Amino acid sequence: MTILHASSECYPAAKVGGLGDVAGALPKYLNRVGANASLIMPHYHNKFYREHNWETIFEGDFKLNVSVYDYKIKKESSNELGFALYVTEIPGLLDEELPYGYPNDVERHLGFQIAIVDWLSKIEERPQILHCHDHPTGLIPFMMSYCYRYAQLKEMKTVFTIHNGEYQGSFGMDKIHLIPYFDDWKRGMLEWNNIINPMACAIKCCWRFTTVSPTYMKDLHHSQSGLQSLINSETKKASGILNGIDADVWNPETDKWLEACYNKEDVETGKSINKTALCNSFQLNPDRPLVVFIGRLANEKGGDLLADAIRQSVMMQHKAINYLVLGSGRKEDENALNELKDAMPDNFNCYIGYHEKLAHLMYAGADFLLMPSRIEPCGLNQLYALRYGTIPIVRSTGGLIDTIMDINEPGGFGIRFEHDTVAAIDVAVERALTLFQDADKMKEIKQQIMTFNHSWEHAASEYIDLYESM
Ligand code: ADP
Ligand code: GLC
Repeated sequence: MTILHASSECYPAAKVGGLGDVAGALPKYLNRVGANASLIMPHYHNKFYREHNWETIFEGDFKLNVSVYDYKIKKESSNELGFALYVTEIPGLLDEELPYGYPNDVERHLGFQIAIVDWLSKIEERPQILHCHDHPTGLIPFMMSYCYRYAQLKEMKTVFTIHNGEYQGSFGMDKIHLIPYFDDWKRGMLEWNNIINPMACAIKCCWRFTTVSPTYMKDLHHSQSGLQSLINSETKKASGILNGIDADVWNPETDKWLEACYNKEDVETGKSINKTALCNSFQLNPDRPLVVFIGRLANEKGGDLLADAIRQSVMMQHKAINYLVLGSGRKEDENALNELKDAMPDNFNCYIGYHEKLAHLMYAGADFLLMPSRIEPCGLNQLYALRYGTIPIVRSTGGLIDTIMDINEPGGFGIRFEHDTVAAIDVAVERALTLFQDADKMKEIKQQIMTFNHSWEHAASEYIDLYESM
């Protein structure tokens, strides 16, 4: 079975968040269970691209508005990711270093999608399934079905995965002319609430759609995302498949970024060496329990609650607790954290920015990982934490419900809380600290969670079943 994934991120070529991790791992694991999977992404002007060799396998052009763009499809020569990696190179349109955040993102995403369908429509040997991820690829199923120029692709099967329903990529009807000439009777497929909505369009036009956890699919039926009624009406095409983790990359026994590698047998020593290194570089006392947060500072992640929750918790615990935050995003949240750092330098520190290596060291060196997410389609952080023997403290939502059981449940190993409030976070942390006092129980849980297998093998076979059912 041949599957081509289309994604705007793919670790290690380009990553902003979990989408990058998923796209960099799922094709590799699909190949391990016998499929033939590859991935196409935009060509970014970044280090990964410069440091790899690329072979041009196709050249073409397309029109966007009044401009004609030449494009190349290039393939990474070494196949080092465990699957064939293709990029769309579009000079004049895709000239930036990062996946998002530019004034012409709508045009950049469109160019990427048009180059893919144009290329596929012109080659003989096409994949059987095109698997699109999130809104930057959301118009592909529409173009394949209704753009006259790509009529050869009408019968090709498509899967669309919603990684995050909060980002739908909507843009005004004034840009409808950017979409290659299509059957005007189908215009309604592009729209949701009177604007062009790539995510809604994908849900309508794809053969099947998935979310990255079963509970998030249920959440979407009642969420405030604006897609509730659409999800309800398309429910026959829907399934929730829980993400996995790339156990080759996220492995405390081999992780090159740790101060000391470890496994479940020497977890106590291993974590303590990493904790000391981490605390030393952030001027925190390693004898205190360490709670960390890693992620985007966004409303969905509860980034706005962090500074207040930490301040109150440190006071409630009479300063017998430390916090470390790694993240970036909303400026107000970044400023609040920077201020807190000045106010409580002995108990709190933060790194505002993106730092892959530091993230690994934090999963290894922390005692607890805090995720006060309001919305969490899957969440990978808690899965990495488990693998590194770090106990997750999570709000009960989406994928966090599917992966973390509270210590009060039989077999439970984490801390869960219900409300997205500062008080609820502090009570949850207090429960964690009670657990921390019991060294034997802590060790038992660390060893238990390190044995969990959240690797992609299981999810990859669920995707294979889905592809086969089509
Ligand atoms: P999301 O995709 O919604 O941001 P996930 O939990 O699925 O959340 O994945 C987040 C991924 O991004 C993880 O690999 C996490 O370690 C990483 N990450 C998030 N923020 C940062 C950061 N500031 N520095 C390094 N890695 C980060
Ligand atoms: C999204 C979600 C996150 C999920 C990730 C990978 O960014 O916010 O919960 O883990 O995609 O699927």
